[in-house]
Amino acid sequence: MVARVSIVSLILLVAGGCGVQQPELADCTAYVAGGFRKIAEDRSQRFLGKVQEDTARCRGGEKAVALRGTPWTDWQNYWATADDSSKAPGPSGDHVHLSPNGRGIDGALLDLEYQRIELIKFNLFDNNGTYEQYVRGRAGADGPALKVWEQMRLAKSNPYYAAVGGDGPQLCRGELIRARTLTGICNDIRNPLMGSNGQLFARNVELDATFPELGNNELVKNRHGDRLGLQNPDPQVISRKLFTRIQSAPEKCNEGLGLPGNSPQASCDYKKAPFFNVLAAFWIQFMTHDWFSHLDEGHNDTQLMSTGCAAQLDGGVEKPLTPEQVKQLNCRPEDRIDKGYVAAGAQPATFSYGGKDYLSRAPKTTENKNTAWWDASQLYGFDDISRRRVKRDPKDPAKLLLLTERAGDAGGYLPVLQASDPMNPQWVGQEATAFPDNWSIGMSFYHNVFAREHNLFVDAFRKQTAATPDQDSGLRNPANPDRVIRYKDVSADELFEAARLVVSAQIAKIHTTEWTPQLLYDEPLDLGMNANWYGLLKDSPLVAEALEKVVVNNFGKSPDAKRATQWYSVFASGPGIFGLGNHVYADDPVFARFDPKKKDLWDIKNPDHVNGGVNHFGSPFNFPEEFVTVYRLHPLVPDLIEFRDLKRDANGIRAKIPVVETARGKATQAMHEGGLANWALSMGRQRLGLLTLQNDPLFLQNLPMPRLSSGSGKIDVVALDIIRDRERGVPRFNEFRRQYGLKPLRSFDDFIDPRLPKDSPERAEQQKLIGILREVYGQHRCDASKVITKAQRNDDGTAINDCLGHTNGTMVDNIEDVDVVVGMLAEFARPHGFAISETQFQVFILNASRRLFSDRFFTSSFRPEFYTQLGFDWVNNNGPEKMMEKGRPNGHEIEVMPLKRVLVRTIPELADELAPVINAFDPWARDRGEYYSLQWKPRKGAESDEAFKR
Ligand code: HEM
Repeated sequence: MVARVSIVSLILLVAGGCGVQQPELADCTAYVAGGFRKIAEDRSQRFLGKVQEDTARCRGGEKAVALRGTPWTDWQNYWATADDSSKAPGPSGDHVHLSPNGRGIDGALLDLEYQRIELIKFNLFDNNGTYEQYVRGRAGADGPALKVWEQMRLAKSNPYYAAVGGDGPQLCRGELIRARTLTGICNDIRNPLMGSNGQLFARNVELDATFPELGNNELVKNRHGDRLGLQNPDPQVISRKLFTRIQSAPEKCNEGLGLPGNSPQASCDYKKAPFFNVLAAFWIQFMTHDWFSHLDEGHNDTQLMSTGCAAQLDGGVEKPLTPEQVKQLNCRPEDRIDKGYVAAGAQPATFSYGGKDYLSRAPKTTENKNTAWWDASQLYGFDDISRRRVKRDPKDPAKLLLLTERAGDAGGYLPVLQASDPMNPQWVGQEATAFPDNWSIGMSFYHNVFAREHNLFVDAFRKQTAATPDQDSGLRNPANPDRVIRYKDVSADELFEAARLVVSAQIAKIHTTEWTPQLLYDEPLDLGMNANWYGLLKDSPLVAEALEKVVVNNFGKSPDAKRATQWYSVFASGPGIFGLGNHVYADDPVFARFDPKKKDLWDIKNPDHVNGGVNHFGSPFNFPEEFVTVYRLHPLVPDLIEFRDLKRDANGIRAKIPVVETARGKATQAMHEGGLANWALSMGRQRLGLLTLQNDPLFLQNLPMPRLSSGSGKIDVVALDIIRDRERGVPRFNEFRRQYGLKPLRSFDDFIDPRLPKDSPERAEQQKLIGILREVYGQHRCDASKVITKAQRNDDGTAINDCLGHTNGTMVDNIEDVDVVVGMLAEFARPHGFAISETQFQVFILNASRRLFSDRFFTSSFRPEFYTQLGFDWVNNNGPEKMMEKGRPNGHEIEVMPLKRVLVRTIPELADELAPVINAFDPWARDRGEYYSLQWKPRKGAESDEAFKR
């Protein structure tokens, strides 16, 4: 247990000589004496990630002070938040947390936690009709403390209506609470409908800030004039000018189609991230297929619409494109796509409260056709139709059906869709699995890997059963809770469902502790993400102490439920979100860390124990539309995959295979030809595409879409990224940032990374791209009398107006009009090791925690009673037994990471290749260096790898 010492005394103790430079010491003391920042009462006073000058100096020295004037968050300039070069000079001393480096990292963690608290406080907006209660409260309880909603009851038409209580109070019980249900009902046992398929997407931005295209209020009109529309600025023109990968040798790329015979001489240029591999790109596509889908069985509404290639700005005026311009841009006016579904499009009801007017929902809503839970529904199904594609092994129905298609591959491969399976014509030849749309070699890879993992868990369970048939398996049936279920009593169905729980939890763990720390490759985020899983307090006692002070100062140890909700969000960073509430002690009913010395009172018969760990912060859980936006990550995908052969020579690139030739049915064929091991090696060694401008795959700009009877038979998927966001009313970039508690930009020039030397080639490239942004989005003469937002105010307290601080009447950039998918790629200034932009990250901070907080199976129902004891241990240990990594990667003693474990288990041929790999998403042949290095150099043994020659 860490001794409780106040931050002030700790900082003063540092004066005794633990590495603080004298001028900084005064700043540390000044900042500490000022006390902790208050959590904002009103959204216009939010934190915005910007700190006082003395705080910046204390945590990052003069460099951090110098960069305070930029719109970007300050923590990225603190000591030790990047690679070795970001560490303060001199020794750190014993008091690691008090050294400049420690202050930098702890400071960053504190800033991030402030952001999270305020995001939870200001950014939850439900579309289902509960928002009015959130604002007004209900029956004496404040809105953010509400836990149950009428709108989350099952309707009469639901087959389980009677089972959960019909017209009376609804409570899921018995069979319905044992495991993840097909449609996602009964995860929260008191809100059966929440997160199930077909529920409405939520919002993270104020409802009247959505759908700026509709010009529904004065602020929006002031912000955008009459410049916005579904087709304005023209999405295909944006795509061709701002998203296209420029080729140094176009003939070797052939628009992403490579050269005949998959010749290794083919080459498609793309900007590469040195610390993230192609497996990581497909991982996130695999995840999105679990979390959300606007499409139903691969299609949208029946009506078709244009996707642009019609007009562009010319001298500030929008003019139709001439045929020559169309040719030069290489866009296609005849492309058509099916319009997005709209669930409710009628004008929403309004209400007034506290002198303010509110919309009860966004002007239009759409449905998430998937379950919102992290339930591996892309593998196991989310409705009756998708479930019919999931094949179980008739020889052992606890298993998924795997057919051995390749000689020497003992693990087997998923079967291919049959004519009798529900499917679209475009899916012919693909593996039979629940979510078949936009199938790629990466989807084929992960679906096969996790099907194998499912079966390996079943094998381990069967082995345990054979060894100890009479032993308690840990499993319980809530309908008959006192009956001990011995290993030999577990039915095939029960084991199938337990394996699904295990696989889902492993996937969530991989995403949280392996994928995300590599996506955000620096020390604060590594600690932060692991804290979501394991708890923050164990390694960062000062942060924990400080957070507790922040919480007590702002919310108090009060019985007030609203305050308790906020309190919870922070306190949860103590024990970690995962497993929260899965132990109940007499003196610590919800937040307890596991303590083997205390008597655990958790009881499956008590609904408050089963459900007690979840918290929805007053707003039913579903993903917001804005979350889908920031997952539009198409630039990650390269055009060509560098195919390798594990047995012959891992260092050699034998073929360059176009990704488009490994899509849909061709993915399955390519998988069967190449085999899991070779595809793993190929995608594991290749760097993915940076999320930046002019870096979208050429093949996605020209994707064949035979299902649409359009003139071209193709679609520009990245132009579609823009149109879909506009259809769903995502605010444009600057207002999006304001809504999420980030500083807005004043002009396109703000995108340029302020840390770059004036004469660097990178700066010149950024300037060039900024020029194109200005050409595409244009400028206007500003009017300072027009107030454009209520989400934030200027630093001096005045309202933000159309001139954004520029002189009234001058020409200003149309920075307010920039689409989020464009703005997020234009953010050249990023924290170290961030594959995504800071704006995208802000959306993740909120929603990544929420999807853990809201899920009973990751919190209070993460118990052997549901997972079996073997399953519970399997998730905790990353497999049958715990394994530690050698050495101290990035300065930490760590367990072998979960995806690495899964890959070695499911594809044993990879054992040698993976031995030196720490994180399966870091390019496998890269030398990681000592501390968050981003260098692209080979590790020992991979010097001859051709990927390092260019
Ligand atoms: C071979 C690779 C890929 C193909 C062929 C592909 C294709 C597509 C297509 C055609 C759509 C448009 C659906 C529509 O709105 O009509 C789409 C949407 C989307 N894609 Fe991809 N994609 C690929 C990879 C990825 C990757 C790596 C990501 C990373 C997260 C991703 C994320 C998304 C998202 C978030 C959407 C929006 C889904 C929704 O509206 O519910 N895609 N993709």
